[in-house]
Amino acid sequence: MQHFIVIGNPISHSKSPDIHTAFARLVGIDISYRCQFCPDDFDSLRAVIEAFFNGGGVGANVTLPFKEMTFDICQEVGTLSEYAKNAGAVNTLALKNGTLFGDNTDGQGLVADLVNHGVDLYNKKVAILGAGGATRGVILPLVQRGARVSVFNRTPSKAHILAQNFITQGITINAHALDDLTGHFDVIINATSATTTGQTLDLGDVSADVAYDMMYGKPSAFLKHFHHAEQIDGMGMLINQARLSFELWTGRTVDLDKVMPNL
Ligand code: ATR
Repeated sequence: MQHFIVIGNPISHSKSPDIHTAFARLVGIDISYRCQFCPDDFDSLRAVIEAFFNGGGVGANVTLPFKEMTFDICQEVGTLSEYAKNAGAVNTLALKNGTLFGDNTDGQGLVADLVNHGVDLYNKKVAILGAGGATRGVILPLVQRGARVSVFNRTPSKAHILAQNFITQGITINAHALDDLTGHFDVIINATSATTTGQTLDLGDVSADVAYDMMYGKPSAFLKHFHHAEQIDGMGMLINQARLSFELWTGRTVDLDKVMPNL
């Protein structure tokens, strides 16, 4: 039996145990995957992670509010993937040659979901709304697929700082004020926290072929605005980030067409 956890605060609502258990059943391995509550401070998080891996744990997911803190822990005592470095955040932990390894599968999960929906990103105009952690995590995977990325944020200075940080890593993106959002995009992605907090975004005169809200499970005023576009919520991103974590930990490939009907 291989042991896995997802660390968060709060955590009891997490869908990860059901998703990973379904993956394990599909590929025929025996796992336990449980929710791990952690107090919201660095020392507690470090203690939880160390206790889990010292006790023989194979892999951990990390969710809110710990993704950035886990990045700091891996920087101190472990190693990080390119995706985690770009995102400045970790959602997946494993041991690599006995050392803690932090990865980030969120952005790749979003891109995989777009690809599964038949969306070709090469040379396409992609607008991302928001300039927080969710945006940071998705930029590298989008750019790797050849997308031309523009970030629009309510606080323009945050978008500009984000773009400057990416330039130092050799990645060019455009940065704008959300107020300047106008015209047509191939793909528009909501990476703000507005849907979670039930706020509406001031979207003005903008259209898109595909509208993607990273959130799921709540009515999205963002998706409603793009009623002429193909609308996708973040459920597929959740399932794909989980699939990528599971594949990293187990080396097994998950056929989502076979597992989706059970989720
Ligand atoms: P996350 O890590 O999930 O990205 P975050 O770092 O708190 O969360 O970032 C939230 C993003 O949503 C920010 O870009 C925020 O804009 P500001 O930088 O101007 O604060 C954006 N956001 C949240 N609510 C918003 C709203 N009602 N309208 C527009 N942008 C909003």
